Amino acid sequence: MSRDYLIIEQFLIDALQARALQAAFDLQIIDALADIDEMSVDGLLRGRNCDFSGGQFLLQMLAQNDVVATAAAGGQRFRDGDSVRLTDVFRRALPFRDLLTTKLEFSTLVAADYFANLPNLLRSEDEFTASSKLFELFDYGRCLDITTANCMHAARWMQLTTMLTRYEARVCAESYDFARHSQMLDVGGNSGEFSLQICRRHANLTAQVVDLPVVCHVGARHIGGTCEVDRISFSPGNMLEDTFPQGCDLITWKSVLHDWPDDVLPILLQKSYAALPPGGRLVIFERQRWDFSHEVTPYGLLPVMLFFRSYRSPEHYVQVLADCGFVDVHVEKLQLEVPFLLITAAKAG
Ligand SMILES: C[S@@+](CC[C@H](N)C(=O)[O-])C[C@H]1O[C@@H](n2cnc3c(N)ncnc32)[C@H](O)[C@@H]1O
Repeated sequence: MSRDYLIIEQFLIDALQARALQAAFDLQIIDALADIDEMSVDGLLRGRNCDFSGGQFLLQMLAQNDVVATAAAGGQRFRDGDSVRLTDVFRRALPFRDLLTTKLEFSTLVAADYFANLPNLLRSEDEFTASSKLFELFDYGRCLDITTANCMHAARWMQLTTMLTRYEARVCAESYDFARHSQMLDVGGNSGEFSLQICRRHANLTAQVVDLPVVCHVGARHIGGTCEVDRISFSPGNMLEDTFPQGCDLITWKSVLHDWPDDVLPILLQKSYAALPPGGRLVIFERQRWDFSHEVTPYGLLPVMLFFRSYRSPEHYVQVLADCGFVDVHVEKLQLEVPFLLITAAKAG
């Protein structure tokens, strides 16, 4: 159930078709068809920002991607009088439209990086970082001073992390028993979406999010309108320099540790150990290093794929956790659109 959202992946495989789907959302062609069983091609295209041939091309691309179909005889020509409808499989993907459109938007944004700057990416992360839109967008240096411009900038990339986490958190919640905890600390907890998804399922749980000041500010607005607002608090700070808040019996690291180099990883896990009471637990939920010769590389994966240098093997995490003194270390591999690691560990009681 929690992985139903992966149905969207089939529409994000091919870059040209995915870009066409994004255009169909932008031209509100998808909205027009979503509310109705079927519609004539000329009725659908009338008043949209495309000429008839452009619209016909777009519909043919969408048909190739299994987004739309026509009952007309003679193939998918999409002539004026033909009627067009959304396919059943695309209708099943539409409830996950927030994630689908976010992935389309960010893939298009970073596709230019991949095509123009692949030589830089192959040479070094630093060279790629200096030339890429992706890393310009994820500029944590702009997350310290709370200004309107910085909040707007952060809100943009936080849309991607929030949408991915909205659905990934549900898989994590299904695989780990959060009910045994009363207070969690989500380090690098971003908009609070991970805490929100977990707290929504566990009424006795409260959560504290540690993140950079601008991110906490934007996150507090995100959580503000939810029923869980009184159970999720934000602690602006620097996870590397500041002591972690005490009092939690669970510390979660959701897609954060890959951001940090190997020499910093033990420092962060050691700080987690120090903040936990005896018997307290730690959860790491992260993409694992994946093998591009086996895993598929759909277009929709570009925004996370470009961080390929950062993802680690489970053995690496297990070793560092053991070195920090954690016991009862357990690794579970979960297949989402790419392989994820759910690693749990405890501070000896
Ligand atoms: C890759 S994002 C993951 C966000 C979130 N956990 C999720 O999965 O959606 C990493 C997070 O770490 C935060 N971060 C980066 N450097 C930080 C620092 N020095 N102190 C606190 N938070 C930091 C970022 O602002 C961001 O929210």
